[in-house]
Amino acid sequence: MTKIRKAVIPAAGLGTRFLPATKSLPKEILPIVDKPAIQYVVEEAVAAGLTDILIITGRNKRAIEDHFDRNFELEYYLRRDGKDDMLKEVEASSELADIHYVRQRDPLGLGHAVSVAREHVGNESFVVLLPDDIMVDDAALLRSMLDTHDRYGRSVLALLEVAPDEISSYGCVDPAPSHDGLVEVKAIIEKPVAAEAPSNLAVFGRYVFTADIFETLDRVQPGRGGEIQLTDAISLLLEDQSVYGQKFSSGRHDIGQKLGFLRANIEVALDREDLSADVAEMLRDIVRSRDL
Ligand code: G1P
Repeated sequence: MTKIRKAVIPAAGLGTRFLPATKSLPKEILPIVDKPAIQYVVEEAVAAGLTDILIITGRNKRAIEDHFDRNFELEYYLRRDGKDDMLKEVEASSELADIHYVRQRDPLGLGHAVSVAREHVGNESFVVLLPDDIMVDDAALLRSMLDTHDRYGRSVLALLEVAPDEISSYGCVDPAPSHDGLVEVKAIIEKPVAAEAPSNLAVFGRYVFTADIFETLDRVQPGRGGEIQLTDAISLLLEDQSVYGQKFSSGRHDIGQKLGFLRANIEVALDREDLSADVAEMLRDIVRSRDL
């Protein structure tokens, strides 16, 4: 089987949860500490061995392209002023991978955003990474999903156990009995109410797809919220071929929510040698001074 090379990152959403910041700035550019959120996602893809990244953008997303491009003027001044560490960071962000862009002209849903990648991806299996989720795991989850795809030649979904009252925010799978964290998916449903959820296993923003997903995306009808849902296309795919789910439990930050975004900033800072001690002291000080 040919090795998967391509990753698709849908980044066309309006980011309304982060207004007014996202009025003029793509939410994917909001920083986790000092690096745009989307760069963590691209770095994860690269760490897992993917070399060709397609970012699905929309209006108001030019800053993403600028971020991954060279900035000669900035590089000139950093070099002139001997700011070598910063220069390295700036250059690195434009040399991460072969990054391509295509626009989703109409916001018709996540399934539609993925279908926009068809021309670029062609007839190869590929990965989808949703940038609302960032992983702090050295790409361990994505690597193991790619291994599972290599072994079975089928699509693989990342699965997370969530509390019953949270399942209505996710795609939810009905799993066959599992071994080693790997399950075969029997059915999938988008954002069920808790009482109708077949399990507490939520699909989160990492997917490995066979190219057959494009054909099912073509057939899928508008679903929940009137949108073309990726979950519904996976459900159609299940009629023809097995789909696997890879359970995992750590390293994920949901930065699509304000609280998750703030937490990711703190946790990532606590993981950094240059910030860890000071941030820990700052947190203790906040707790003390506010009597929390
Ligand atoms: C999307 C998918 C959903 C999935 C979730 C993961 O929903 O439709 O199936 O569980 O991403 O983050 P969204 O968060 O875009 O509403």
